[in-house]
Amino acid sequence: MSMNTSPALCVANWKMFQREVDVWIHDVENYMRGHPVHARVVLCPQMLLVSRACQSVVHSSISIGAQDCHAYDEGAYTGFSSPKLLSDMGCRYVILGHSERRYMETDECIHAKAKAAQKHHLIPILCVGEPESVRKSSRHLDYVQHQIYASCRDLHADFVIAYEPLWAIGTGLIPTPKDIEIMHDYIAQCLCQMGYDHHVPILYGGSVNSQNIQSIIPIPGVQGVLVGGASLNSTSFISLLKSVESHAVI
Ligand code: PGA
Repeated sequence: MSMNTSPALCVANWKMFQREVDVWIHDVENYMRGHPVHARVVLCPQMLLVSRACQSVVHSSISIGAQDCHAYDEGAYTGFSSPKLLSDMGCRYVILGHSERRYMETDECIHAKAKAAQKHHLIPILCVGEPESVRKSSRHLDYVQHQIYASCRDLHADFVIAYEPLWAIGTGLIPTPKDIEIMHDYIAQCLCQMGYDHHVPILYGGSVNSQNIQSIIPIPGVQGVLVGGASLNSTSFISLLKSVESHAVI
């Protein structure tokens, strides 16, 4: 195992909650200016706030991500968002295949979106993770392998994987550190077999908060976190960053 000193990637997924983007960005940016935070921060607010968020981060180290995009640049697709326009607005990332959207998306559709995102220089954050029944029947590695093979083929290496077991999202439950390590190692092996080098960051997501992050960030193979509920409030997100500060990412 080699030591990797890349900054941890800390992604705030606001889902469909509404918060003051300017205030959050100001607070988090202020904290990061005053402290040597070994982290990169990406804020993913709901689509209606993305434009405002992009304007707010112009002089900041925080990046903005969307929570989804379409596979086409434009067309008769009511209610969808163009990856081209997101990129033109200043977005840098896009979450794709989040489990809260997968009920209406196939792996093929997520793959097409990832290709379109990369075409417009957006970095896809591809979410994978098993439901509880799959974990209970010990088929979780195969399940996630299938998701990775189906959605990550033929991409440029500039993407991110977020491992989010469905049963851990918003429940307060998290896998044991050993289970997270095993899954992250397995995902890294899958990516290697697909020809991607070791630079694809693999994040953990699901009930991460300022208390448990201290035991998650040091886990070998965890290169950052995707945070839902605990990212909504700038104070709790900053205390999460404080814990990241004190650990090298392995
Ligand atoms: P949670 O959500 O941190 O509230 O569990 C994570 C996610 O769904 O991305």
